[in-house]
Amino acid sequence: MMNARIAPSILSADFGRLAEEIAMCQEGGADLIHLDVMDGHFVPNITFGEKVISTARKATSLPLDVHLMVEKPERYLDGFAAAGATGLTIHVEATSHLQRHLARIRELGCLAGAALNPATSLGAVREALGDLDLLLVMTVNPGFGGQEFIRASIDKVARARQMLAELRSGAAIEVDGGISRDTIKAVWRAGADTFVAGNAVFTASDPMAEIAALRRECLELA
Ligand code: DX5
Ligand code: ZN
Repeated sequence: MMNARIAPSILSADFGRLAEEIAMCQEGGADLIHLDVMDGHFVPNITFGEKVISTARKATSLPLDVHLMVEKPERYLDGFAAAGATGLTIHVEATSHLQRHLARIRELGCLAGAALNPATSLGAVREALGDLDLLLVMTVNPGFGGQEFIRASIDKVARARQMLAELRSGAAIEVDGGISRDTIKAVWRAGADTFVAGNAVFTASDPMAEIAALRRECLELA
């Protein structure tokens, strides 16, 4: 049986108290800290870059799971790795040379991730599975926190799990967008093992209890 990993997204945190918010996630039992980098081109929104990654690196000993929603992500890999990223996930829609960049991420000593927008088929990563440590199946169209979970993603996650098994890949399957107590169980059952949660955690009255509650949903049988 796989373990569910919970990755709070600091996109929904209070940036004025970022270090405390991250420390709270660690204390609450988070497995990873998810950092959403947006460039205003690949997605309409703009968030942060290297400086916030190095700030997060100082605030926690947890792995930093960096999700790059940027065009030409290859421009940032070296800098983000140096800033302390544990994993770097790039969008297949944002580059023509996925395999080269995944290989570079590993060369930099980071875990290599590839992300798929909801309309992008699993086939887009199939030939690069050997270079992949994490497959991020987006469960909303990226750009903003607090969006509604796209239900068709459940079947996509199941097919992703099948594809990984078929090709004997040990990559993690992460889901991101609209993950809450109401949606996590279905994607867990479908085969996801890593769960990003922004709004669900940071709008909860007790964020630490919410991290535990999300995990509990994945422990319960059927
Ligand atoms: C979406 C981001 C997510 C986002 C998730 O563009 O990649 O990581 O923060 O937020 P929630 O959990 O609020 O949907
Ligand atoms: Zn994300």
